[in-house]
Amino acid sequence: MHRRVAGPSGPGVLEEVALPSGTLTVLRPADPDVVAFEPVPGPGASEELHPPHWARLWPSGRALAHAVDDAGPERLAGRRVLELGCGLGLPSLAAARAGAGTVLAIDRSAAAVAWVAAAARRCGLAVGTAAVPFDRAGDGGARWDLVLAADVLYGVAAADALAALLPRVTAPDGQVWLADPGRPETPRWLAAAREVWTVTTRPLPDGVDLHVLRRP
Ligand SMILES: C[S@@+](CC[C@H](N)C(=O)[O-])C[C@H]1O[C@@H](n2cnc3c(N)ncnc32)[C@H](O)[C@@H]1O
Repeated sequence: MHRRVAGPSGPGVLEEVALPSGTLTVLRPADPDVVAFEPVPGPGASEELHPPHWARLWPSGRALAHAVDDAGPERLAGRRVLELGCGLGLPSLAAARAGAGTVLAIDRSAAAVAWVAAAARRCGLAVGTAAVPFDRAGDGGARWDLVLAADVLYGVAAADALAALLPRVTAPDGQVWLADPGRPETPRWLAAAREVWTVTTRPLPDGVDLHVLRRP
């Protein structure tokens, strides 16, 4: 079911997403195709305009939220959960509902995290947000029990920044759950990740794989 509401930066829709433990309501732009492109730092001091990929719910985000919800309070209660490249943040909402102790959703898009914060308020869920790119995240030294990311390997620069970030933000006995729809960059990224992490992979619905990274 979809209900039209005002969003933080334009007309929005409340979309009910069916998850194993019950429906979760996500807030998204009513028409992602009319959301403005955003300036993103490019090489040197340049700026590039990037499409607002955050503005729609991707199959990987839905599938990762499903996996988080399935894991439930037995796995999530009291845990510290960080979502990277959160877009509309459905996995973060699912983690908060499952009883995670702290949830932080980050994306380089300030618009994206404003929509996540608004969705969390509407659902009465505690989800912190921050607008920060992968190459500037993790400076506070915080370590997370579970690091989530859905469909973030679609560019070499972002993929490399993510690879450098993960060891810095994941607790010694923590895990990374990376949901990916088989982007061209993924095989190279996973081959490099296996130098650092033990990686196990299982299929999720809609052609999405869940790669679980643990320290050996
Ligand atoms: C394809 S969208 C996926 C959104 C969401 N995770 C989902 O699955 O529905 C990729 C997301 O990663 C974010 N992103 C891309 N490069 C990033 C970077 N270098 N730092 C932080 N976020 C980034 C984009 O803004 C976007 O929200």
